[in-house]
Amino acid sequence: MSTANLIQALDRFDALPEAVRLRERSYALLAASGAVVDVGCGAGTAVAELRERGVRAIGLDVDEGMIAAAAERYPAADFRVGDACELPFADGELAGYRAEKVFHSVPDPDLALAEARRVLAPGGRVVLLGQDWEAIIVDADDMAITRTMIQSRLAAVPSPHSARRYRNLLLDRGFRDITMEVHTGLLAGDLALPLLTGLAEAARATGSITAARAQAWIAEQRRRAETDRLFCAVPIFLAATTNP
Ligand SMILES: C[S@@+](CC[C@H](N)C(=O)[O-])C[C@H]1O[C@@H](n2cnc3c(N)ncnc32)[C@H](O)[C@@H]1O
Repeated sequence: MSTANLIQALDRFDALPEAVRLRERSYALLAASGAVVDVGCGAGTAVAELRERGVRAIGLDVDEGMIAAAAERYPAADFRVGDACELPFADGELAGYRAEKVFHSVPDPDLALAEARRVLAPGGRVVLLGQDWEAIIVDADDMAITRTMIQSRLAAVPSPHSARRYRNLLLDRGFRDITMEVHTGLLAGDLALPLLTGLAEAARATGSITAARAQAWIAEQRRRAETDRLFCAVPIFLAATTNP
């Protein structure tokens, strides 16, 4: 997906009332007094909202195009290009670390958390949020093909199970007293179509299903969207803890 298309899809998702509530919950759990980094900040929504709440937030993203879009949207905010696994901050410099819908894209989430620990001051807060790519629930006429598509999509995601592993990853890195929550997003109508089209295209690209089957499945989901029969649920895992 191009950066522009990803921004468009994220904007639509971010406007959902559940997504707004979930971000609000993440800010409450972050509760940091000092500088906070939003890793994988995308087009900067969370950074802008944290700033509105008086937080000194820095947006970091590995994609220069994302950072350019974020800086254009929110010119007064602090956005930087950088990698989650090589954070451009000194040891103990930050009071908070947030990463939403990012760790699945990071090949080594453990290394990202080692970096989180390094840059956080003692007592600094960590909040992680994201979906597990195998836990996407879709109603479809042919469940076997749907399962095949979800399995195919996993292969294209560097760390598809990182969200179900948040707690264990944090424990392995020495964090303790971890709060875990699951919030389920319901994607109805054409809002779900980019995600569902991505599933079908991944399966076609890996040869798990034919192009004709992929097209038929997408057409079925389009019909469902048009007739208010599309049902897609995505559990979002949230983990929060304090740097010891
Ligand atoms: C799905 S978007 C989520 C954006 C935003 N956090 C949100 O919740 O809307 C994932 C973002 O993570 C960024 N990203 C992926 N791998 C990264 C890495 N290793 N370091 C920093 N950012 C990364 C991508 O460029 C992209 O902007």
